[in-house]
Amino acid sequence: MKLVLASKNQKKLAEMNEILSGLGVEVCSEAEAGVDLEVEETGTTFEENSLLKARAVMEASGLPAIADDSGLCVDALGGAPGVYSARYGGEGLDDPGRTRLLLENMRGQTPRTCRFVSVITCCFPNGDVLSARGECEGTVAYAPVGENGFGYDPVFFVPELKKTFAQLSPQEKNARSHRGRALEAFQVKLEEYLKNR
Ligand code: IMP
Repeated sequence: MKLVLASKNQKKLAEMNEILSGLGVEVCSEAEAGVDLEVEETGTTFEENSLLKARAVMEASGLPAIADDSGLCVDALGGAPGVYSARYGGEGLDDPGRTRLLLENMRGQTPRTCRFVSVITCCFPNGDVLSARGECEGTVAYAPVGENGFGYDPVFFVPELKKTFAQLSPQEKNARSHRGRALEAFQVKLEEYLKNR
């Protein structure tokens, strides 16, 4: 079975193929499916946004499509930046800029607990929808540490490891990350779905 990934991120494509190839599933890019969409993420939950993206690409390609929506939720900030993680502080900021803004907004705030969340949704042309969520708990570090990863990784501190996500290898991060966990849960649901088709 072929799934189209509703994303232009090559890293996500490789990661999904690595995990789902065991089920005889091939994940291809939007470009390979002849689709080039910019889906507006107008939802207020990770579930809504991943569904919006997957449904739009499924409708445009006629093939089953998979999407993930993710972000960082900080307790002391009422769950922000949450679904707005990629746009925190406006379009003008890059990853280090958003990280700095987060640290500024966390000055003097307690607790510093937070979690990364990822929701993966797959839409099939017959109307079926599969969805899975993964979370990873941490705290907001006091300053960026580490060179690996992307986004908020340098300030996402994992207390058990006494390291930020940016200090972990990709394998170490995938083994515990929100996206790794969501993909694992999704894999189980997809396996069950394919068996009962
Ligand atoms: P999405 O591509 O709409 O899901 O946006 C996700 C945003 O959340 C990214 O741009 C990052 O800012 C943040 N984010 C999600 N997952 C991670 C991660 O694993 N590490 C660091 N930042 C992440």
